[in-house]
Amino acid sequence: MKSVLAVCLGNICRSPMAEGVLRQVFAERSRLAQLNVDSAGTGSWHVGNPPDGRAQAAAAARGIDISAQRARQVSTADFSRFDIIIAMDVNNLKALKSLAPKGHEKRVVLFLDFAPQLGKRDIPDPWHGDEDGFDHALDLITAAAHGLADHMEAELG
Ligand code: 4NP
Repeated sequence: MKSVLAVCLGNICRSPMAEGVLRQVFAERSRLAQLNVDSAGTGSWHVGNPPDGRAQAAAAARGIDISAQRARQVSTADFSRFDIIIAMDVNNLKALKSLAPKGHEKRVVLFLDFAPQLGKRDIPDPWHGDEDGFDHALDLITAAAHGLADHMEAELG
């Protein structure tokens, strides 16, 4: 079965929200309901911590509970365990590509490439800003999640 790993810098804001949204979007599509979804950070500062309270609140307002998630750092084993590794911004993409074992770089993709209609590459890091940044990130994540779900359904044939 296919699996998807969402990656940002801290694994306490964007990628936990992406994990929650992807779980919800995949659950709504019968052929994707069994997909394995996880998230991780390129950095290690927040390992073991729950998502930022603002991320939890923004997700909860959309009916998505991410409170049980705990941050972890991406590892080289993830490149063989996950079929698609989605980066929340271009910096994460670069970090992941340089960490990827030879031959596994192609699994790493930019999440917003699945929402080309937005004309954006980065989901801005909301950590230093206010609550609005989290809601904006969720809008971008939701658009890309539907694009990724369409892509996965097409791949299944
Ligand atoms: P995230 O946000 O990458 O969306 O989880 C951040 C959280 C923490 C830090 C940076 C980004 N930090 O520098 O600790």
